Amino acid sequence: MAGIRLAHVQKRFGATPVLTDLDLEIEEHEFMVLVGPSGCGKSTALRLIAGLEDPSAGDIEIGGRRVNDVAPKDRDVAMVFQSYALYPHMTVRENIAFGLRIRDLPAAEVESRVAEAAQVLGLAELLERKPKALSGGQRQRVALGRAIVRKPSVFLFDEPLSNLDAELRVQMRAELARLQQRLATTTVYVTHDQVEAMTLGHRIAVLAPTGPDARPNLQQVGTPLEIYDRPANAFVARFIGSPPMNVFRARLSADRTRLAAPGIEAPVPRAFLGATRALAGAEVLVGLRPEHLVASAEPGWTSPIALEGSVEIAETIGSEVVVHARVGEEKLIARFATRRVPRLGERIALAADAAALHLFAATTSQRLAES
Ligand SMILES: Nc1ncnc2c1ncn2[C@@H]1O[C@H](COP(=O)(O)OP(=O)(O)O)[C@@H](O)[C@H]1O
Ligand SMILES: [Mg+2]
Repeated sequence: MAGIRLAHVQKRFGATPVLTDLDLEIEEHEFMVLVGPSGCGKSTALRLIAGLEDPSAGDIEIGGRRVNDVAPKDRDVAMVFQSYALYPHMTVRENIAFGLRIRDLPAAEVESRVAEAAQVLGLAELLERKPKALSGGQRQRVALGRAIVRKPSVFLFDEPLSNLDAELRVQMRAELARLQQRLATTTVYVTHDQVEAMTLGHRIAVLAPTGPDARPNLQQVGTPLEIYDRPANAFVARFIGSPPMNVFRARLSADRTRLAAPGIEAPVPRAFLGATRALAGAEVLVGLRPEHLVASAEPGWTSPIALEGSVEIAETIGSEVVVHARVGEEKLIARFATRRVPRLGERIALAADAAALHLFAATTSQRLAES
């Protein structure tokens, strides 16, 4: 097993930069998720680690060895793709064993590895079937089996669950998490799904597209809760969490203790008082998660934060209600546990704890420092 290091990696296709200054260390045994919107360069990053693409600049190390000039087959990585392309004329057993046979492993060793993988993946009863007689989830498990039997130093997964239906995705997600616990193989897992990122990753690296001005793609690296609790900028704040964090402009009072926007009144959270010292009277971006808002009519709430608006959409999912409200010039989303679904156009007063506010610089969108 091995850690991975990407050092100042650049990738251009022709003149178009796709990855800019990607600096990332993945520790041995770690499950690292690369997450970001479609087209931001996640697959490209994975293909660089696998050796299927060459970096335009920078170094890639696996297990402390620089692998820029090492052929893909000699990097000891196994990759699983979204389209798992099994050989239709081969049985499950033959599909799983194929990568080992072409490596000239002794037949007994192949047999025992296939049996072990089939056991781990619940495929033992299906070894003699052809892929066409398998469900989507079973096929994906065979694709995982092909990777597992190689016993590689590193697993690379590129959106392996996106072809599955919602129910199967949740089930396979749990299986992948269990598999990681059992095998502890260093893993880089690419997804555009922030729920997958949150549930699977030991750490998450959030990527955004680079631009013609070649901004670094990497926005933040951290554990799921670090990223959820303290997003490094407004992009991460909006990307992680569902529904996404509300982010709106507000003006600091002259004494910097209060924030105001049409329909919104709030104190500056204590932790941010230091950072707003130079910002008296200036605009900042305020972030507030939908799940941190409550209907202030609820008993027991004397909130220092007041938001007043009207209901534009209200959807219940049984356990909670998601309300889209117009507050001043902003559209805010609130998610709260209640059995009463508000009427469209109804006036609504929302409240939150002051500590739930996130502040970002209006100029750079970067999180303000906390003390
Ligand atoms: N071989 C290639 N030639 C030219 N452009 C490419 C190539 N591969 C990827 N790209 C471009 O690089 C960008 C990132 O692609 P990709 O890494 O597949 O994104 P993601 O996996 O995050 O959706 C996209 O704009 C894509 O069109
Ligand atoms: Mg991709």
